[in-house]
This record gives sequence, structure tokens and C-alpha cells, in this order.
Amino acid sequence: MLTKTKPLPHPDLERVLVSKTSISRRLKKLGVEISESYGSQEITVVAIINGAIFFTADLLRRISTPIRLDCIRVSSYRNQTRPTGTPRILDTLLLDVEERHVLLVDDILDTGKTLSVVVDELKKRKPASIKTCVLLDKKARREVDFQSDFVGFTIPDRFVVGYGLDFAERYRNLSSIGILKPDLQNPPEWS
Ligand code: IMP
Ligand code: MG
Repeated sequence: MLTKTKPLPHPDLERVLVSKTSISRRLKKLGVEISESYGSQEITVVAIINGAIFFTADLLRRISTPIRLDCIRVSSYRNQTRPTGTPRILDTLLLDVEERHVLLVDDILDTGKTLSVVVDELKKRKPASIKTCVLLDKKARREVDFQSDFVGFTIPDRFVVGYGLDFAERYRNLSSIGILKPDLQNPPEWS
């Protein structure tokens, strides 16, 4: 008997790692977890753009706690698929976070450098509390000691794209998360 395999959402993917349905199911639970953790306390969400755009937009609609939203931009310090240096904050916040409960949201926790740099910066502004939420956690690649308070999925050390995650700014708009074919991870024409 022939078994039907689902077509890949993009031909450049080796396979899908987290499907659209799994993302949606997990976000529903994560939304409840976050809402219960904060209760009626207002949260100031700080999303790290561009990667966290899709995740943040869907997650916040699952949270019942009152929310203020701001974004922060951190320099992309990656050379192709591997990090090469220290992340720098490029765009700072418009909202005041002093005495606020800050929830920092990013797409993926990899070496941990980005989140630790941003958390250190935000702490200088004296928030009442600061927690982090990531969609993906690549635990095996940690270079600095960092743990996120809320995690969508723990994934293996593979380069992934989709649902906000990019390679050279491409593939962010795929609705699932997939592993990029290894031979496409170093195209010289993309920068
Ligand atoms: P970290 O500073 O090494 O923890 O890296 C965090 C940033 O690296 C994320 O915000 C992503 O932009 C990027 N990144 C890490 N792993 C991947 C991946 O597999 N695909 C796409 N971007 C990634
Ligand atoms: Mg990013």
C-alpha cells in the first residue's frame, strides 16, 4: 500500500521539525502558563525583532493578562549559520520598564549570548521583574549559562528556519519550522 507523505512547505527544507499544528497547540498551553504566572499583573512584553515577530504576535493573543508591547533590535552577529561575535543592541525601547514586569520574547535560545546581553541591559532600567520566553531552545549549543523561564520546544542542534526564523532574511514566513538543507546553508550570493 502506498503511504502518502505530506508535501514540504518549501523545497529548500530537508524536513519539517515542528508543524504548524504543533506550534498552535503549544502556544495555547504556553499562553495559559504565562497568564497563570502573572495573574492580573500587567506585563511589559519586549520582543526581539525580527525573529520573534511571528511567535510574539500569536502568543500574545493567547495571554489573558494585560499587556504592553515594545520591540528591541539586536545586531545579527551571525556569519552564515554560526555566531561570530558579541550581539549588540541597535534599537532601544520606547516604553519605560522601571518597576514593570518585563517578559522578554525571542525566537530561539542558542548560545544564550543574545538573551543574556539584553537581560543585562534591561536590568539597568530597574524593572520589577524580568523573565524570558523562547519558542525554541537548542540546549546543546549553550555558551553562556542561561535558562529561559518559558520554552516552547527543546530542539536538537540543527539550523532551522520558518515561523520567524530566517537564513539571510529568507523563510521567515513559513508557517512551520523546518531544517534547512545543509547544502543551502552557505550560498555565496546571499548576505
Ligand atoms: P544566541 O545569541 O546564540 O542564543 O542566538 C540567538 C539568535 O540566533 C536568535 O535570535 C536567532 O536569530 C539566531 N539563531 C540561532 N539559531 C538559529 C537557527 O537555527 N535558525 C535561525 N536563527 C537562529
Ligand atoms: Mg533573532
